[in-house]
Amino acid sequence: MEIKGKNALITGASRGIGRAIALSLAVKGANIGINYRARKTDAEQVKNEVLKAGVQAEIFKADVSKRDEVERMVREFVEKFGQIDILVNNAGVFPDHFTTFEITEEEWDWLMDINLKGAFLVTKAALPHIPDGGKIVNISSIAGKMGGVAGVHYAASKAGLIGFTFALASELAPRKITVNAVAPGPVDTEMIPDDVKDRLAKITPIGRIATPEEIAHVVVFLIENDYVDGEVVDINGARYMD
Ligand SMILES: NC(=O)c1ccc[n+]([C@@H]2O[C@H](COP(=O)([O-])OP(=O)(O)OC[C@H]3O[C@@H](n4cnc5c(N)ncnc54)[C@H](OP(=O)(O)O)[C@@H]3O)[C@@H](O)[C@H]2O)c1
Repeated sequence: MEIKGKNALITGASRGIGRAIALSLAVKGANIGINYRARKTDAEQVKNEVLKAGVQAEIFKADVSKRDEVERMVREFVEKFGQIDILVNNAGVFPDHFTTFEITEEEWDWLMDINLKGAFLVTKAALPHIPDGGKIVNISSIAGKMGGVAGVHYAASKAGLIGFTFALASELAPRKITVNAVAPGPVDTEMIPDDVKDRLAKITPIGRIATPEEIAHVVVFLIENDYVDGEVVDINGARYMD
């Protein structure tokens, strides 16, 4: 897909990986819908940075785990931009507890509702407005493929996103809408505490964790390429080689 002139909705774009995806797509010429949940000032800053690329931008406050808020966001996006050519399901949260002993049912539900059901709700609301040839990218995690230390709920939500990606890819392939996932290792965002970042850098063969821009680069590739479909792209500094 030629990104220039297309309209992209990115969930959780007020900071971190979502922000980097928003800026990368803006530089390529896409109009950007910046979804956030709480940090309006951050979302406005991203909007100002996106506008500098000479494209249109709007912020949309919505909790992706709430159907009514998601439907309102999609309605407002379509009113402004017309259609959704590119959807990036990026919004996600990191747990407070990591052992199954400590994880409560409430924490399980809260995390699954945002990380997994959120992608379903946003995709379901967006789908009537995605034209043939559109693109969907879901941000999963290395945790969805190898577990890791973030707990069973986080790993299950990210593995769930991979299954979601596979099923949606086969469902939408007849319409030439590609659906792919990205599975990053640790990335330098606010999601991970600084001391944990240092520990994770040491166990990464390449010697550091990823930048958000490096993840955004993979997302851009998946949007520009029309034949990669139903894939999970790993980006983790050779963690599997360790
Ligand atoms: N950082 C990593 O090491 C890493 C590795 C692999 C995968 N990932 C995944 O990559 C994605 C982005 O992570 P990140 O590191 O950029 O996280 P981050 O810096 O913590 O940013 C999270 C973003 O998600 C938004 N968000 C959180 N809950 C939301 C909700 N209920 N509804 C709408 N938006 C919500 C936040 O909005 P507000 O600013 O308004 O709170 C923010 O924009 C997540 O899905 C994460 O699981 C991250």
